[in-house]
Amino acid sequence: MGLPSQGNKIMPRVQKIEMIKTDAVVIGTGVAGLRAAIGASLHGNVIILNKTGGRESNSEFAQGGIAAAPHDDEAAIESHFQDTMNAGAGLCQNEAVRAMVEDGPRRIEELLSWGVKFDKIGSRFAMAKEGAHSERRILRAKGDATGNEIVQTLVRTMKKRKNILVYDSHFAVDLLIEQGVCLGVWVLDEKQNALKCFLAQRVILATGGCGQVYQRTTNPSVATGDGIAMALRAGALVEDMEFFQFHPTALSLPSAPSFLLSEAMRGEGGLLRNADGKLFMDRYHPDAEMAPRDIVTRAVWEEMHHGQLNNVFLDMTHLKSDFLPRRFPKIHATCLHYGIDITKDPIPVAPSAHYIMGGVKTDLFGRTTIEGLSAAGEAACTGAHGANRLASNSLLEALVFGARVGEDAGKIPHTSLPGKITSFPLPWTTPTDLLVRKHHQIQSELKERMWRDVGIIRSKTSLERMIQKWEDWKETFQLTPIKSVLETRNLLLVSAAITEAALRRKESIGTHFRSDFPNRDKGNPGHISLNRDALNKNFPPLQDKAVSPISCVR
Ligand code: SIN
Repeated sequence: MGLPSQGNKIMPRVQKIEMIKTDAVVIGTGVAGLRAAIGASLHGNVIILNKTGGRESNSEFAQGGIAAAPHDDEAAIESHFQDTMNAGAGLCQNEAVRAMVEDGPRRIEELLSWGVKFDKIGSRFAMAKEGAHSERRILRAKGDATGNEIVQTLVRTMKKRKNILVYDSHFAVDLLIEQGVCLGVWVLDEKQNALKCFLAQRVILATGGCGQVYQRTTNPSVATGDGIAMALRAGALVEDMEFFQFHPTALSLPSAPSFLLSEAMRGEGGLLRNADGKLFMDRYHPDAEMAPRDIVTRAVWEEMHHGQLNNVFLDMTHLKSDFLPRRFPKIHATCLHYGIDITKDPIPVAPSAHYIMGGVKTDLFGRTTIEGLSAAGEAACTGAHGANRLASNSLLEALVFGARVGEDAGKIPHTSLPGKITSFPLPWTTPTDLLVRKHHQIQSELKERMWRDVGIIRSKTSLERMIQKWEDWKETFQLTPIKSVLETRNLLLVSAAITEAALRRKESIGTHFRSDFPNRDKGNPGHISLNRDALNKNFPPLQDKAVSPISCVR
């Protein structure tokens, strides 16, 4: 049943809700979501909710590769563990890192058995190196399209499982919580303009990251933090939200998107030059271009500000011109499209928001602080990344914890699901063109503010500017069943959590840099965990009630 319409407007009250019951609902179609669905399908029926008609995700865009040691090489596994812990600046959860590096090789073998084709040199896998890795351990596919190759393989595998159904253009609005237990999810079916309720024994958030909170991001437009926001509204804990990784080298041209220029380019010998054409990274770190990502990002930022420039340059021109198109085919073609020949021209680059280390707090099997609700991939905070993620660990984490969450879906005691839902708890406002335009305006203001005030360098003053602005947004925001408005709602809440956590962490560590506290706090403040109530003082709820108790009939 569609939302009742009047002319081209939609009436605010929903009269009848379609209900769909299954065993597990997975929200998201990146590596974590697909792997979780494949695992959960061994235990029951699975529905995957995809907010678009395609398969866009952060995973799909991952270029560099997937880091993993060979399964039979204990020393290599230990060194991967150490590099990950070092990059995380003392804030990684030991057990989560262990799980990731030890399960990783098995998951890679599994991918190979499902048909993934990693690049080879002769009969051996080609292994790349990126910043802060002490050895070559990064597998790649089609040069610079590793995420795409893994996603395509998982999609093919998923399609063979007859008990997995994918619902495209279904946007998850809010979790359905009854007496502290997650029973399902409210969903907007965009094509039919209908509200649906999916009930399940287990809801798995695999909605990816939230790079769209920032003006400049390498993330696709779908990365709006939906899962993190839904979990917050439902009362779950989020953790480490202040740790947002800014990639140092994204294309910086007025006409182009912030296209990622993989760290693997520096791994192959790429050099960073400032406006005067001078190398500068050795002034910032002994490992120069191969220093940890947060250090390279701040160095680039510093050089840009020093020279009052919009970018620095990534120079690949000294490398063999027949090597570059072969090694980086997608990057080569994309840059050519924007008029840059990477074999001849230094590439203008600037930092760009890339990956959030924080997210919905989970245990080692992806269980959140709400019964019946799990999370995996970038939406989750397993603790595997600490204050700074090691390059090419994100696909690995998504794969390993996606598998763990899927397996865990079979271990839960059955909850009795309601037979009928009689009302929808949110107060919709009738959407109009004006209202939609107003929300686009909020979204672009938010991205600008986040970039300026809660970006690479933060301070009490800048963070408080962001808090002040919240008052305006709170007044203007209105909940309405339009996807872009619902995404704005999520972006606002996720930004609030990032800002609040950044304000509370009065030190600089990993990717979190406070100009008013430029050093590490020797007192070791640990992790910052937040729930919705913890945000209320600085970020009072928007004009949308948190999900209230619903009327279930059993
Ligand atoms: C890159 O290729 O530089 C990005 C890979 C990652 O974020 O791990």
